[in-house]
Amino acid sequence: MNNKLFFTLIVSGLILFQACNTPAGQGDEIDDKVEALLAQMTLEEKVGQMNQYNGFYDVTGPAPAEGDAKHKYEHIKNGWVGSMLNVRGAAEVRKMQALAVDSSRLGIPMIFGFDVIHGHKTLSPIPLAEAASWDLAAIEKSARIAAIEASAEGINWTFAPMVDISRDARWGRVMEGAGEDTYLGSKIGVARVNGFQGDDLSANNTIAACAKHFAGYGFAEAGMDYNTVDVGMATYYNVIFPPFKAAVDEADVKTFMNSFNIVNAIPATANKHIQRDILKGDWGFKGYVISDWSSGREMIDHGYARDLKHVAELAANAGSDMDMESYAYVNHLADLVREGKVNEGVVDDAVRRILRVKYELGLFDDPFKYCDEKREKELIYHADHMEAALDMAKRSIVLLKNENNILPLNKDKKIAVIGALADDKDSPLGNWRMAGEDNTAISVLEGLDNYGVKYKYAEGGKLITGPTAFPFELKVNTTDKSGIKEAVNLAKQSEVVVMVLGEHGLHSGEGRGRANLGLPGVQQELLEAVYKVNKNIVLVLMNGRPLTITWADEHVPAIVEAWQLGTQTGNAVTQVLYGEYNPSGKLPMTFPRHVGQVPIYYNQFRTGRPGPKHEVFWPHYMDESEKPLYPFGYGLSYTEFDYTNLKVNLKAKNQVEVSVSVTNIGSKAGEEVVQLYINDKVASIVRPVKELKGFEKIKLEPSQTTTVTFMLTDKELGFYNNQGEYLVEAGDFEVMVGTSSVSGLKDKFTLE
Ligand code: NOJ
Repeated sequence: MNNKLFFTLIVSGLILFQACNTPAGQGDEIDDKVEALLAQMTLEEKVGQMNQYNGFYDVTGPAPAEGDAKHKYEHIKNGWVGSMLNVRGAAEVRKMQALAVDSSRLGIPMIFGFDVIHGHKTLSPIPLAEAASWDLAAIEKSARIAAIEASAEGINWTFAPMVDISRDARWGRVMEGAGEDTYLGSKIGVARVNGFQGDDLSANNTIAACAKHFAGYGFAEAGMDYNTVDVGMATYYNVIFPPFKAAVDEADVKTFMNSFNIVNAIPATANKHIQRDILKGDWGFKGYVISDWSSGREMIDHGYARDLKHVAELAANAGSDMDMESYAYVNHLADLVREGKVNEGVVDDAVRRILRVKYELGLFDDPFKYCDEKREKELIYHADHMEAALDMAKRSIVLLKNENNILPLNKDKKIAVIGALADDKDSPLGNWRMAGEDNTAISVLEGLDNYGVKYKYAEGGKLITGPTAFPFELKVNTTDKSGIKEAVNLAKQSEVVVMVLGEHGLHSGEGRGRANLGLPGVQQELLEAVYKVNKNIVLVLMNGRPLTITWADEHVPAIVEAWQLGTQTGNAVTQVLYGEYNPSGKLPMTFPRHVGQVPIYYNQFRTGRPGPKHEVFWPHYMDESEKPLYPFGYGLSYTEFDYTNLKVNLKAKNQVEVSVSVTNIGSKAGEEVVQLYINDKVASIVRPVKELKGFEKIKLEPSQTTTVTFMLTDKELGFYNNQGEYLVEAGDFEVMVGTSSVSGLKDKFTLE
């Protein structure tokens, strides 16, 4: 056989092999179907695919007879709506889908989007809390379960994960992300996308994910939501973009959502550079981009668009493929095409992307595949989901302080429980639990009951006065201190006081910025009053962001960071307090000592004046330490881990093997997150003081030792310059492996 023929046979074999291994319904076959459908569509029908409406009427009731609702209803029947958000329930989605499929000319199914952020009905911990587990398998499972429940309610697209990096605890939406670090955030983003999308997107229990908000939303100035963003390209390329890029490269995320903010003074929604050049160009993203809620229309207020028609022109040309609730495309895009201001190719490209995802979801095979009421009944609140939510909740808890091993408690101790949050069944569900039912969390008191703990309880005063709801401001009790006395009396008669304090679930989330990061309301006063009569306090914190609990850290012997842990909150907290579960979480965000230090984060660029120095001319404050209260990566256990034997080996060019031995030197089995940080000593752009580049969660029995090995490659050793070029430069590096971002064994290596 001549070489040419042999080569041809091998290549054809490979092609055949690939074709047989391409999941059904994917690849060229979908392209062909998309093209065939596109060829039949009118301009208005194409624009319709780019239009998303919010749920506008009770589908189970009569059809709307007037106003905006009637318009939307007619638009669906005309085929002018590609997607709906906030419609859920197998029966409800079925009815609305039927409007599109049965009444419109081409019967193109709609895609149903929803904010499935941390669980769906069974709620898992808020995303920031899950990030504290550093447990990628558990996080992926949590997203998988959320997808199973959401898809059983008719949903086939989640607006998650939020992969915005944020270093500002004042920003309410830090609860929705994975914290301050781009490496950890990328890994967690990928795990979440994989969990939502599963192995087969066409299955009826997987849903399309959405990496949001592209890009820079987490850098809202002064932590105030929707505020302006002004960040340099070094930070965009090296901090903000990587989790988005990882979602494309490593998880094939199907959709992106752009953001409310400006990027280099151009609103993200109209930012051609980030959407077309970078995302769809450099990164080769094949899915579609949706605007954020009316982020198109808001460009008028930004002073970037003259009117709604201009919005449509700018956004479409810049690569925003679907318009969420701005009404810009549905009202103006077809005219803009006819006027030659938007090329029909731009519309075709957007529609191709949207139709492709619908095909991949299998919506053309069966538009009602997510609308099975029997499945809905069986799967919502399934026992397996509850069990996984409990496991996730326990893994999310971070032990911040444990003086004299006051924890774990034993049942013989006479305990008092104090704090309104201990008896709250709603707040621990956290914000962004759109499908979650009110008061369905297991409260801390219920958790103690379930575990057979005898306790006495005093509220110590209300945290919130009046009703709470997703869109409305919270009313915090700052005046009524009448409950403190009863709490103090109870504390006097108890051996240990468990104080459950912190934020309400709606203290964080969208539109929930805080300028103060202390315990809200009268809680600090309550804590200090109790401390005066009983110093044996275990502070259980519930919060959606880092708090400045500096007084508590100085005085209170034990502090447990319990975030908002979702449905299983009380059980998880109890199992940690009583040592049934050994806490293993590590902070995904730095805790400041004082709000004046914010933004405070571990991997800041190196400055020209590293301290400390004996004079005043170095970065510090006169009135507060410059150090964090608790650093990134920090978290204790009921056991202790010892790090020895750090070894660094250059295996090949840009391949550095780093290994360390870790021994459990305590008396309990426990889990540890082994963290690896590097510092590039001299580079062509200034590099951070240190950067997380590897971590592994290990479990060790008492006295057990294991060796953890990391391999640093081009991917971990390089960085982007300000032109967006990825460079791995020769030179010296420092490496640190240890238990947090501030403590570990150190060594050096040099890249040739
Ligand atoms: C606005 C939020 O910024 C976004 O994250 C969310 O997905 C949409 N509203 C839809 O609820």
